[in-house]
Amino acid sequence: MGFNIILLGPPGAGKGTQAKLLIKRYRIPQISTGDILRTAVKEQTRSGVRAKEFMDKGALVPDDLVIEIIKDRLSMPDSTAGFILDGFPRTVAQADALAIMLKSDDKSIDHVISITVDNEELVQRVIGRLTCRGCGRGYHLRFDPPVEKGVCNACGSELYQRDDDKEETMRARLLTYESQTAPLIQYYSTLGLLRPVDGLGSIHDINESLAQVLER
Ligand code: AP5
Ligand code: MG
Ligand code: ZN
Repeated sequence: MGFNIILLGPPGAGKGTQAKLLIKRYRIPQISTGDILRTAVKEQTRSGVRAKEFMDKGALVPDDLVIEIIKDRLSMPDSTAGFILDGFPRTVAQADALAIMLKSDDKSIDHVISITVDNEELVQRVIGRLTCRGCGRGYHLRFDPPVEKGVCNACGSELYQRDDDKEETMRARLLTYESQTAPLIQYYSTLGLLRPVDGLGSIHDINESLAQVLER
């Protein structure tokens, strides 16, 4: 039973929400390229400045940039017992690069969890989302509100709305997903790694289904 996990799914499917629960359950790190990129944008690093224009349009950041980010991140010692990749890979080129990276470390992917949710629900989830500035946890104005308005339950930091969570940008992200990322479903299915999970239902119930899949 290995815990090298990829969470695959469209924007708003619940990748981040579920990753935050899984890292507590299995004590392995969440590696989110979206979170790493948002930090780089905020700190105005060279990659952040380069990534921002793509993120604002709902397009993917160039492969070379995110592959470099993942290479650095996976070389840190905390991922030896496993890891949850949230939002990476997102293209076939990224998936190929990941396989090569892992192979050179004698590692491989154990499960690719594909979370499915219909597009209208995805839009509702994303336009109502609030994100914590401190720990990155997501909330939802209606579906998962914080105990205290505007404040993270987990770490007490301020909640904000992501720049790309406007309806128009979200629609562009959905199209990007369909054209560039959805082909990975077939890619990992062919490798026998795909574990489809229905992303509709309560956050808790979905987490239980994920755990069942991972511990099977
Ligand atoms: P990224 O940050 O990865 O965003 P995303 O894939 O668009 O996904 P989201 O974070 O929007 O959704 P999620 O699935 O995590 O949903 P969440 O759990 O928050 O990427 C952002 C950008 O960075 C990309 O557009 C791209 O430009 C760039 N990028 C990142 N990685 C890249 C890569 N590898 N290559 C190239 N570019 C890259 O949930 C959403 C909302 O729903 C929350 O409000 C939550 O509370 C609520 N919710 C969750 N579960 C439920 C439920 N079961 N019922 C009701 N509500 C729920
Ligand atoms: Mg996310
Ligand atoms: Zn927080």
